[in-house]
Amino acid sequence: MKYIINGGKKLFGKVKIDSAKNAILPVIAATIMCDEECVIKDIPLYLDVVEMCAILEKLGKKVEVKENNLIISGAISSTSVIMAETKTLRSSIFMMGSILSNYRKAIFTYPGGCDIGKRPIDIHLAGLKSLGVKFSFANDLIYCDANKISGNTIELSFPSVGATENIMMASTLIENGITVIKNCAREPEIVDLANFINSMGGKVFGAGYETIVVFGVKKLHGTEYRCISDRISTGTYLLAGAICLGRIEVCNVNPNFLLPLIVFLRNSGCNIELFSDKIILENFSRPKSIEKIETGIYPGFPTDMQSLILVLQTISKGTSIIHETVFESRFRVVSELAKMGAKINISERYATVVGVSKLKPAIVTCPDLRGGAGLVLAGLSAKGKTEVGEIFHIERGYYKFDENLRNLGANIERIK
Ligand code: UD1
Repeated sequence: MKYIINGGKKLFGKVKIDSAKNAILPVIAATIMCDEECVIKDIPLYLDVVEMCAILEKLGKKVEVKENNLIISGAISSTSVIMAETKTLRSSIFMMGSILSNYRKAIFTYPGGCDIGKRPIDIHLAGLKSLGVKFSFANDLIYCDANKISGNTIELSFPSVGATENIMMASTLIENGITVIKNCAREPEIVDLANFINSMGGKVFGAGYETIVVFGVKKLHGTEYRCISDRISTGTYLLAGAICLGRIEVCNVNPNFLLPLIVFLRNSGCNIELFSDKIILENFSRPKSIEKIETGIYPGFPTDMQSLILVLQTISKGTSIIHETVFESRFRVVSELAKMGAKINISERYATVVGVSKLKPAIVTCPDLRGGAGLVLAGLSAKGKTEVGEIFHIERGYYKFDENLRNLGANIERIK
């Protein structure tokens, strides 16, 4: 699968943002803690979501999609998460917390995922160990025994998103147990998972702050839930407007989740109007470079937006230095952008970008999810025909990406 783009057109129109991939995936994992029916409303079928559901079905849950809603019910019949999908989908690791919470034992393979650097799970395991989970390792498998699980106070060595979510889930069904998680990740998706767990009768407090307290309960009940909208997709469409020029209205969003990006876009010269649930961006001239961009944990500038803002810098006036502090290999898109005429120099975790007035079309290949989306934006801005290959990376986390861009006036086709 690839995209054929005939770039160089300005973009105008409206795009409605779907629920966030990074909110849906842990929520799907959390349904393992409840045997009753859980309805996750208005689900975009990102490839990662489809794969997460496939794992859930293989474990024995009933999974259906009806009128855009994901309906998950029943109990799992196996606690061995060792199927092929777990090697490609890192989020399968979220099932460790939920399975141990409800079933007290599990077997896992080491998870795979986007190729953006080493992705260890030591913080997940250390947190679960503090709750009394025992691990043994053999033949690339992780054997987990949570028969002696109990509440405890845990301080994470780094505010890992996944580890915070896993520990929240593992402690949810420790009846009468009180778990205090310090130095938590504070991403909006963490708050969303806590809200989902609480909608099933859980007692998770403090999500969104540095300390989360989980009061364990005996059992959870079914629920209906709609996950928050995707802040990274939102940023992607805003950047499309900033890069290709035009006027874009992005709806069904919470601007509070995107403040660092909004400040950067304003400093680049874009005109931005904020509303309670929409953002309008207007830009009709070449953007100015942002001198220094540093990714960081929430509420800092999201690492998931780094490849996308990098593309904005490639066509901006001036020089920009981007410092990636979260993942070590998030500059893999640079060699592809170089084929389009971008001037980027990498030194360890720093990228120095000297803006050029125009990118040129090329045949490029997606290195990962966000890098792939960045290449599409670069292709849309370059006058002429760009081919973007291996777009399954993009479809892991964008739904109807080409259709949404066509609705904004882009000339983009998805072909086999
Ligand atoms: C989640 C997001 C991902 C985002 C990232 C950071 C999902 C499905 N994915 O990934 O899109 O880019 O947050 O905002 O929600 N680390 C360790 N040991 C661990 C865990 C993490 O060293 O046990 C390191 C990682 O290698 C990385 C950093 O901590 O360098 C951040 O990872 P983490 O916050 O855990 O990200 P994910 O949950 O994997």
